Amino acid sequence: MTSIRHFIEEWRERFIGAGIEDARLNAELLLAHALRARRDDLLTRLDESLPAETLKHANALCERRLKREPVDYIIGRREFFGREFHVEPGVLIPRPETERIVELALERLTRDFTGCAVDIGCGSGALAVTLALEFPRMRVLATDLHAVPLDVTRRNAQALGARLWYAQMDGLAAIRPAPLFDLIVSNPPYVLPEDYAELQPEVRDFEPREALVGGKDGIEICVRLLHEIAPRLKPGGLLYMEHGMTQGNQLREAAARAGLKEARTVKDYAGLDRILEARA
Ligand SMILES: C[S@@+](CC[C@H](N)C(=O)[O-])C[C@H]1O[C@@H](n2cnc3c(N)ncnc32)[C@H](O)[C@@H]1O
Repeated sequence: MTSIRHFIEEWRERFIGAGIEDARLNAELLLAHALRARRDDLLTRLDESLPAETLKHANALCERRLKREPVDYIIGRREFFGREFHVEPGVLIPRPETERIVELALERLTRDFTGCAVDIGCGSGALAVTLALEFPRMRVLATDLHAVPLDVTRRNAQALGARLWYAQMDGLAAIRPAPLFDLIVSNPPYVLPEDYAELQPEVRDFEPREALVGGKDGIEICVRLLHEIAPRLKPGGLLYMEHGMTQGNQLREAAARAGLKEARTVKDYAGLDRILEARA
């Protein structure tokens, strides 16, 4: 019989051998998922033997991870700003650095803010759902070019109790160019096409390319969005756009050319340029 301890140790070693980071954590998360248990609880059950069916299931999950499938897709969820979001292939796995956009909005706006916001390129709904929950009176529109992200956002909004509006569209071009939004957030695709092949296999081979690659120079989509955003933001309205760590200067300049004001770059917690803040 295989014990929990033995399973974790064996898979930790196999993951390390395959160059997978956080090997033990991955083994624990996948076994906890197979056992429908919390990861913390495994630590008090280390000498327990695994039933044959559970062992088979847990081994199959770990085999998937060995082929570099992201652990979040395998277990079907990822935490963002303290809440669990369902994720699946077709939506980007939300990243911790994107939480900074929510923090910035919380610094600038009061919780009872009643304005209108849009999240361009909602993916799993991490930003749109979190904004709707942190600002209960804000009206939040979630948009994406693709259908799967909108479906997943709808599912996450329902599960977490957020009320959103939805639109499948390319940027904001379909919305009449009149000041409508008090807050616009976006984490658009911004990876340079030539950097794509160098991404970790978890990202390159499993996450949607259209969520990652930002067209020519990596900033093509960001720059186009800035021109669509500027006329649709109310005077004094706020924009937060995530970008790559070398794109801060270019995007501040592009924001100014689009007619946005007070453009500044906010760093993430690793000290890297990460978010463009600007006002209409
Ligand atoms: C980097 S992901 C961000 C997902 C999510 N907001 C997050 O932060 O985890 C970019 C998203 O933008 C969407 N997207 C790409 N081009 C778009 C466009 N032209 N208009 C609207 N959405 C777009 C992609 O489908 C993808 O869901």
